[in-house]
Amino acid sequence: MQKSELKKITKSLKNYLSTLEEDDLIAKASPSSKREALKMPKKQAAKKEVVAKKEVVAKTEPVASPSVKKTATKPSDSLSAQPAQDISAALQTLAEEIKNCRRCPLGKTRLNAVPGEGNPNAKLMFIGEGPGYDEDRQGRPFIGRAGQLLDKIIAAMGFTREEVFIANMVKCHPMVDPSDPEKRANDRAPKPEEIALCRRYIEQQINIISPDYIVALGGVAAKSLIMDSPNLASIRGKLYDLELSTLELKKPVKIMATFHPAALLRNPNWKKDAWADLKILLNAMGRSPAPVKKSAAL
Ligand code: URA
Repeated sequence: MQKSELKKITKSLKNYLSTLEEDDLIAKASPSSKREALKMPKKQAAKKEVVAKKEVVAKTEPVASPSVKKTATKPSDSLSAQPAQDISAALQTLAEEIKNCRRCPLGKTRLNAVPGEGNPNAKLMFIGEGPGYDEDRQGRPFIGRAGQLLDKIIAAMGFTREEVFIANMVKCHPMVDPSDPEKRANDRAPKPEEIALCRRYIEQQINIISPDYIVALGGVAAKSLIMDSPNLASIRGKLYDLELSTLELKKPVKIMATFHPAALLRNPNWKKDAWADLKILLNAMGRSPAPVKKSAAL
């Protein structure tokens, strides 16, 4: 066989293998104490242990009192030297690619792609499920009702929207009836195959921004980024070591799942649980919540 022919075959095999990886929606991160945390059968847990890397952190540590700020131990302190322009430029290039993407049917029916926005050097990233009606119109994440609640959550945590980075698992609006993007209440959760085709973008964003912490908002982001768990309840409120499926992480990143703001709008009685989750995260970050007034506004 000719050398060039052999090269061709190797290349197409590689391409094929990379497609298989995209389809792998099984999450790669898990806590070391996950058998206990997930109450899963011993045999199953032992199997998962193989991919698991590290333990749940800060679960039992006391939440910092609002008046006492702890000094943060930032995993990225020694790695934060990358010039800001490089990061912004890389994010911008990726955003352009996303805007031109037609890899799945969502790309054909969206009004605008929604790559994400915020601080390119954010220490904290929020990842939702996918753009809705308002986001599709403006090409910006979390600007509808759920977004307004997210803004309050961010403020209660002592950040501004500009300090964090906000993005979604899928970048285009998943619609129940894609023939009518102008229709309200036309939202649906993204399908596994849509997430699989889009996940390269969120993974690249995570790697470019290199945050210390990520909040996965709701079951879709949680299950896609943390683990193939049957429900959000069994994984929320715990910190996991993130692992990406299409890339090697530049540095360690911790991830926590909590309720999606839209779910909190539907079930306001879950807000106190969401807030308890986020206080665990703040404690791990060595930060205190905003003074009571802002956190009471949730
Ligand atoms: N819900 C999401 O998950 N993301 C958005 O951007 C808006 C609503």
